[in-house]
Amino acid sequence: MAFDKDDAIEEYVLSHIDEEGDLLKQLNRDAHVNLLKPRMLSGHLQGRMLKMFCRMMQPKYILEIGTYTAYATLCLAEGAADDAVIHTLEVNDELEDFIMKYLHKTKLKDKIHLHIGDAMQIIPTLDCVFDLVFIDANKRHYIEYYDLIFDKVRPGGLIVADNTLWDGHVLETPKPSDKQTIGIKAFNDMVAKDDRVEKVILPIRDGLTLIWKK
Ligand SMILES: C[S@@+](CC[C@H](N)C(=O)[O-])C[C@H]1O[C@@H](n2cnc3c(N)ncnc32)[C@H](O)[C@@H]1O
Repeated sequence: MAFDKDDAIEEYVLSHIDEEGDLLKQLNRDAHVNLLKPRMLSGHLQGRMLKMFCRMMQPKYILEIGTYTAYATLCLAEGAADDAVIHTLEVNDELEDFIMKYLHKTKLKDKIHLHIGDAMQIIPTLDCVFDLVFIDANKRHYIEYYDLIFDKVRPGGLIVADNTLWDGHVLETPKPSDKQTIGIKAFNDMVAKDDRVEKVILPIRDGLTLIWKK
């Protein structure tokens, strides 16, 4: 078998960072066996990063747009203080049983409020000033999510957007039917021009943009 340097580096990184822990390992395996598109979950490296952001920032109010399995939600909860409040939004009600099965296995669930429904409808009803927002739902609507949450993020708060390199498709000219690539590219262009924020794109996994509100 050919030696793949990227795979070897990933293995090296994962063997030199904190473990994800038994619960997240179990969730990850369960998702790969029983759910469609298990690659959508944040995974070991990104999960430890999200936890680290919470360790560093100590956010009180966190919003996650796009729960899927609650892998990332649990990572955010691990890093956040005991009195933190995490609102996580998921439109697919078929995921609720899976999510709750894992939330019920840990005391971290005390920090987590799961909302089943469309983020576009739910966000305007959330009466919070957020310290940290993780945008990770429908790639077609990143700009709408950003516009909806912007005034709810405190100055000095952090917005993290996932999949912003979209498997490298951001370098291409998308077909008019490829609304996800169009959505991500428009989001990246909009953020790049937004002088209300400081931003960096981390080329880890599928691209993670860190957006700090001035
Ligand atoms: C990439 S997955 C989220 C992964 C998760 N944040 C993690 O890192 O483990 C995206 C999720 O967003 C959900 N989603 C898509 N559109 C949504 C919307 N309008 N409101 C809420 N959730 C949405 C999808 O059903 C899917 O489960």
